[in-house]
Amino acid sequence: MIVLGIETTCDETAAAVVKRLENGRGQILSNIVLSQVNEHAAFGGVVPEIAARAHVEMLDYVIAKAMSEAKCPFNALDGVAAAAGPGLIGGVIVGLTTAKAIALVCAKPLIAVNHLEAHALTARLTDGTPFPYCLFLASGGHTQIVAVLGVGNFVRLGTTLDDAIGEAFDKTAKLLGLGYPGGPQVEREAAGGNPQRFALPRPMAGKPNADFSLSGLKTALRLEAEKIAPISDDDVRDLCASFQAAIVDVVADRLRTGMKLFRGHYGTPTALVAAGGVAANQALRKTLHRIAFEVGTVLVAPPPALCTDNGAMVAWAGAERLVLGLTDPLDTPPLARWPLSATTARPTAPPVPATGQATS
Ligand code: KG4
Ligand code: ZN
Repeated sequence: MIVLGIETTCDETAAAVVKRLENGRGQILSNIVLSQVNEHAAFGGVVPEIAARAHVEMLDYVIAKAMSEAKCPFNALDGVAAAAGPGLIGGVIVGLTTAKAIALVCAKPLIAVNHLEAHALTARLTDGTPFPYCLFLASGGHTQIVAVLGVGNFVRLGTTLDDAIGEAFDKTAKLLGLGYPGGPQVEREAAGGNPQRFALPRPMAGKPNADFSLSGLKTALRLEAEKIAPISDDDVRDLCASFQAAIVDVVADRLRTGMKLFRGHYGTPTALVAAGGVAANQALRKTLHRIAFEVGTVLVAPPPALCTDNGAMVAWAGAERLVLGLTDPLDTPPLARWPLSATTARPTAPPVPATGQATS
């Protein structure tokens, strides 16, 4: 089964072709990601209107490149998948409409994929991880602990009440005059700093739920920086190190509680799966390893290129849904908000037609 996947929910224009083998394993035939980071860098964050226009300009080219690298003609596809949300609505419309056009013209089924489900299922593409597993999704827009019980079967165990973790990294970087995206810059500065110099809070630590709250940490950091202004390069390094140490402690505490909740309901997870751009952070990865070990499971952390937004994860989620007959009509709406747990409730279409006709 060969599926084209299109990703345009944020600031990457991406397309990929992925093959699902009979044994359920995946093979990436091509994976093209065009980052818009330069377009947004001057603004210190993603500007939705600029993102949507850049997707319009680049998506056809990215899809053509993905198809040619995969050496796959359109008529060899078994389905066309696009991330139909959640995300910046202008970009989502561009990707989903393009997928619908290809599906209609080539008479292939459309699969409207939840972007979060695509992150959640990536571990099955890279490592063949069986259900049920515990997902820690940490990106610029999302911070969630999720029980992944099956395709379209998710239970959210914890989420952020305010900022996402990546957003907290990005805002910290902006405050300290570091570039965008902030996560990698903060990590680089933190490597040479003293994590004990500033006593930053560990919000939500010890709470019986597995939720996060990060806006207080950001404010505490700003107050510390203001107290010692003007800040030197050494101060920046120490602030970054103290901030990263606080985030790592918070994640450890929240994940331990999340794991407890998981085990109480579903037994020991087959893995702790990391996803989202923040999972590239090495200090965080070390902590995730430790927590997985503590509960008697393993950490599955897909390579950074598959942790951040990409088309392969969308194509793979499309293939996982297609094999179960979960296709979507051509009038499927793009969704700016689409919580992961709602994928279970999405109406299902009849199984894939043997003739390969579009389901509309
Ligand atoms: O998943 P992603 O590529 O895009 C979405 O937000 O959907 O995640 C990007 C986020 C940004 O906030 C970026 O600052 C953060 O991931 N990030 C990191 C690191 N690399 C990327 N945060 C901390 N440490 C890193 N090494
Ligand atoms: Zn994402």
